[in-house]
Amino acid sequence: MEYATLSNGVNAPLLGIGTFMISPDDTVNSVYSAIKLGYRLIDTANAYMNEESVGNAVQRAIDEGIVTRGELFISTKLWPTLYENDAAVDNTLMRLGMDYVDLLFIHQPAGNYMAGYRQLEKAYKDGKTKSLGISNFYGEKLDILLAESEIKPHVMQLEAHPYCTEKEVRDRVAEYGTLLMGWYPLGHGDPGLVKEEVFLKLADKYRKSNAQIVLRWATQMQFITIPGSKNPDHIRDNGDIFDFSLTDEEMAEIAGLDGTKKYYNATDEEVEKYAGMHLPFER
Ligand SMILES: NC(=O)c1ccc[n+]([C@@H]2O[C@H](COP(=O)([O-])OP(=O)(O)OC[C@H]3O[C@@H](n4cnc5c(N)ncnc54)[C@H](OP(=O)(O)O)[C@@H]3O)[C@@H](O)[C@H]2O)c1
Repeated sequence: MEYATLSNGVNAPLLGIGTFMISPDDTVNSVYSAIKLGYRLIDTANAYMNEESVGNAVQRAIDEGIVTRGELFISTKLWPTLYENDAAVDNTLMRLGMDYVDLLFIHQPAGNYMAGYRQLEKAYKDGKTKSLGISNFYGEKLDILLAESEIKPHVMQLEAHPYCTEKEVRDRVAEYGTLLMGWYPLGHGDPGLVKEEVFLKLADKYRKSNAQIVLRWATQMQFITIPGSKNPDHIRDNGDIFDFSLTDEEMAEIAGLDGTKKYYNATDEEVEKYAGMHLPFER
């Protein structure tokens, strides 16, 4: 495993497993087998409705002596309808069965996002999270958050893959040392991405799968990368990317794909509407 050091000195694994759109039962199996295979980062969210499953898988791995809590890096995200609910962080920890997480995000730049971020800052000071994150912040809302936050975000989670590396946003946060954790690293399963000519060629050269080349590229970009999977073969392959390195020329060739596609293009209004939906456990 390779690690990145966040601006507050916390070490974050460069590769983890994502759990978006993975059912509670599949999440237990995927997370447990990922930990057994050497993954140390697990990304979840209030809205994925599987935090309890992540907690159960982690506890099982700890009970079986596979890993200690201190070796793991757990990230989760507060949902906007909870930004003004003072119990949101404690309830999140309760669902996970943990007394702290390693990274806590606000999930969307919607609703009263500064109230959400204040909750994160308080949780950080109270030792309930080791680091802070923002997810899906761009443009003016990113500027407001950076100007008004007391503790600058250590990580930003954005859609990022070879078609979209968000250089402008990365440059915007460079002075704070905020690192990128990329979502949709495999284009949410888009076969067109992994079948790009350059990945076919490099897969052949390194005797790796096309997906492994894409994920290795991401970690060499210093993007924390969190491919989602419930397929045991994919989970094994995705974790096996640290025994080779792409050359500078190969990285430059892949850079030729940058700026050509973004999969998620919701307007501010659409995000507000979607992020205003209450989660089932709130009722
Ligand atoms: N902050 C946000 O708003 C946000 C939004 C979206 C996602 N995320 C986070 O980012 C994570 C990653 O995004 P994602 O899971 O949506 O997309 P992704 O990781 O780009 O792609 C997942 C898809 O790729 C397939 N896959 C995984 N490994 C593969 C392999 N080696 N070969 C071929 N196919 C493979 C998976 O199917 P199988 O199950 O069959 O392997 C699944 O259909 C999420 O799980 C979540 O933690 C955050």
